[in-house]
Amino acid sequence: MGFPSFPNSCFLLILLCLVNISTISSTEPLKQEAVLFGGNFPALYVIGDSLVDAGNNNNLETSVKSNYPPYGSDFEGGKATGRFSNGKTIADYIAMYYGLPLVPAYMGLSEEQKNNISTGINYASASCGILFNTGKRVGQCLSLSVQVDLFQETIEKNLKTKFKNPSELSEHLAQSLFMIAIGVNDYASIFRKTPNFNATEFADKLLQEYLIQIERLHTLGAKKFFINNVKPLGCYPNMIVTSEPRGSCNEPLNLAIGLFNTKLRNSLSQMKQKFNDTAFLYSDYYNYMLGLRGGTSSNQAGSSPLNSTAPCCPEVYDGAPTTTCWPSSIACKEPDTHIFFDPFHPTQLANYKYSIACFNERSICHVVNN
Ligand SMILES: *[C@@H]1O[C@H](CO)[C@@H](O)[C@H](O)[C@H]1NC(C)=O
Ligand SMILES: *[C@@H]1O[C@H](CO)[C@@H](O)[C@H](O)[C@H]1NC(C)=O
Ligand SMILES: *[C@@H]1O[C@H](CO)[C@@H](O)[C@H](O)[C@H]1NC(C)=O
Ligand SMILES: *[C@@H]1O[C@H](CO)[C@@H](O)[C@H](O)[C@H]1NC(C)=O
Repeated sequence: MGFPSFPNSCFLLILLCLVNISTISSTEPLKQEAVLFGGNFPALYVIGDSLVDAGNNNNLETSVKSNYPPYGSDFEGGKATGRFSNGKTIADYIAMYYGLPLVPAYMGLSEEQKNNISTGINYASASCGILFNTGKRVGQCLSLSVQVDLFQETIEKNLKTKFKNPSELSEHLAQSLFMIAIGVNDYASIFRKTPNFNATEFADKLLQEYLIQIERLHTLGAKKFFINNVKPLGCYPNMIVTSEPRGSCNEPLNLAIGLFNTKLRNSLSQMKQKFNDTAFLYSDYYNYMLGLRGGTSSNQAGSSPLNSTAPCCPEVYDGAPTTTCWPSSIACKEPDTHIFFDPFHPTQLANYKYSIACFNERSICHVVNN
């Protein structure tokens, strides 16, 4: 390998916790900094798509799964759990940063386990999105509203068993962190159907539904949110494989996603004014991935030691009508020499670097103060 291997999880945890322990202040915005970055969260609840799916799709009728090798080749000794990467996802690194166990997939839990878990559950589902119909063409998946329904069911059926005293339950919910990472499949879907879609109208439509679901979570008792914006799909291997010149990003698609992200960020400020008991940590995943790639026009002439245009799996990728790596696909030998593991998802190295940029450098994550 041409670059040093990255530290194991224990080291990451210690490193990041030491860095962030010192933020203490009396003023309100700084207090929120300390809470959101310093986090003493009892639980992490995850809502999203394949970026953070921890295996929910394993239990759904769909071809969009990743519970077979070479997925997971670097996950806890080589387990294909249904994560769309060779190793950990950003949700895993976020849990580790906050000192929580990796968050288990809801669909894989027994009733007994659901009744016993109080450190968080993951509802994220690959191929799904903000709009109810997104992703359904390829099989079952859990849409944003359905994930919130399932969380509501978790409260009613399970958390009320675990926390018998209602004030203990509302305290648990108010102190927990709710991560949301969803929306790119809505863009993939509209782009396939109507490449010239009206970006303003579409962003407004998505945002309206997104905010309805945040308000629902708030009504259910959630107060602290980690909002991850939508990735620059126009620069992903499944898009650039057909671009002209080959390897350049699809700018109109990126601009449309960027517009949604800007509106999302602004609406969080408004949401905070509307509900003064909420706190938001905003994660600019879009610019993180663009930066890792080295910009929008790069076809990678050697500025980065990482291969940032082609996926690790399949090793020879011609843009055939799939965005996954199949059990029969030949993968590259060293996944972490790439930023993309398959044509649509990052490697563990990209996810690890994300956690450093978000929590340690704080260059891409910030607390919404206004
Ligand atoms: C409940 O959770 C505790 C702590 O995580 C664990 O030790 C115990 O085995 C669990 N019990 C069941 C029935 O799953
Ligand atoms: C997109 O939709 C908005 C709002 O409906 C409208 O004002 C705008 O003219 C549309 N843009 C185009 C290019 O059609
Ligand atoms: C939020 O607003 C309500 C009334 O609008 C007020 O009573 C409460 O103290 C405020 N809470 C915070 C944390 O500012
Ligand atoms: C990236 O990887 C692909 C497939 O493994 C390879 O064909 C391509 O040359 C690599 N690009 C760079 C810049 O290393």
